Amino acid sequence: MKALVLAGGKGTRLRPITHTSAKQLIPIANKPILFYGLEAIARAGITEVGIIVGDTRAEIEGAIGDGSQFGFKATYIPQEAPLGLAHAVKISKKFMGDSPFLMFLGDNLLKEGLNDLVDDYKTKKPNAQILVAKVPNPQQFGVVEMNGEKVVRLVEKPKEPKSDLALVGVYLFDKTIFEAIDNIKPSARGELEITDAIQWLVDQKRTVIVKHISGWWKDTGKLEDLLEVNRLILETVEKSIHPDAVVDDKSKIEGRVVLQEGARVVHSTIRGPAIIGKDARITRSYVGPYSSIYFNVHIEDSEVEHSVVLEHARIHGIKRVQDSLIGQRVEVVKSHAMPEAYRIMVGDSSRVEVP
Ligand code: G1P
Repeated sequence: MKALVLAGGKGTRLRPITHTSAKQLIPIANKPILFYGLEAIARAGITEVGIIVGDTRAEIEGAIGDGSQFGFKATYIPQEAPLGLAHAVKISKKFMGDSPFLMFLGDNLLKEGLNDLVDDYKTKKPNAQILVAKVPNPQQFGVVEMNGEKVVRLVEKPKEPKSDLALVGVYLFDKTIFEAIDNIKPSARGELEITDAIQWLVDQKRTVIVKHISGWWKDTGKLEDLLEVNRLILETVEKSIHPDAVVDDKSKIEGRVVLQEGARVVHSTIRGPAIIGKDARITRSYVGPYSSIYFNVHIEDSEVEHSVVLEHARIHGIKRVQDSLIGQRVEVVKSHAMPEAYRIMVGDSSRVEVP
C-alpha cells in the first residue's frame, strides 16, 4: 500500500494568507494541517508517499523534506496546473505502479486515524473504498447517493443534492482507477473529477465500498472551518509547560494550556484550551480559550480569544481580538496619532471587521 497526498491546491478561500503560503501548512494548534494527515498515514504503516505539489512546491518540500521525520519516503510529483483530483491521480501512475493506494486531500482533517480504513481495504480488496460523512451543506462537496449499502450515484457539488452524504477527502483505490480516469472527460469547471472516475467504476460494476466516518471531519478551506478545527484539536490537548517556558508570579495559567519552549508569560492570564508557541511573549494580556499562538508572536496590553495567530505577528494595545486568523509578521497595534482613525495597510483579498 502506498499513499498519494494532494498538496497542490491554491486555497483561494483563505486569501490573503494563501497569497504567500500554502494552505496545507497553516498551523492548527501550532502544527501544520498537513502534518496531522501525514502522521496518520505513517501510523497506518505506509512507507511510500507521493506528494502532489503545485506553485507552493518549495514550501511544502521544505516542510516535509524526504519524509524521514514521519517515517516514510516522500516523492514529489509536480502538477503543472490545478486540473483536478483525478488528474493528480493520473500523473502519479508511474509512482504507484500496480500498488493499491490511499489518497488523502491535504486540507482535510479527521479525528479518526486511517488504520481501520486501510485494514478494511486490505481485507475486502475492493476497486475503490470511499469515506462519507453527513453534512448540512452537501452542495459544497462531492455527494453520494446510496440504496442501502450500495452506491447508486456520485455527483460533484450538485446544486440540488439528493443526499446529505459528502465525500470525505480520503479514498482507497487499486489500479483500476487509472482505467476509470482514462474514460472520463473534464467537468464544467474544467477539471478531471475523481468523483466522476468513481462513478465510472460504479457504472462498470466494479466494487466500490462506502465507509461512514465515526469522528469529526473538516475540509479546512475556509476561515470558519479552520477556527472550528482549531477548537476541535485544542479540545484534545493536555496541559504542558515546557521547562524552558517562563511564567512570572503575576500571571495565571488556567486550564489546559500548552506553553512551548521559550514562551514567556508576564503579568498575563492564559485560559485554556490554548497553546502558546516557541519564544512567544505574552505581556500584560489575556489569551482566552481556543487560541493558537504560533512561534515568536508578541502580544502586549491586548486580549485575544478564539483565534489563530501565525509566526512573528505583533498585537499591541488591542482591546479584544476574537474569531480571527492573523498572518505571519502582521502587526495589529494601537495608535495614539491624531486624528483618531483606522490606519490600515492590508494585503489583497483581506478582510477587516471593526466595531
Ligand atoms: C474535493 C472533492 C469533493 C470532496 C472534497 C472533500 O473538493 O472534489 O468531492 O467532497 O474535496 O474535502 P474541493 O475541496 O477540491 O472543492
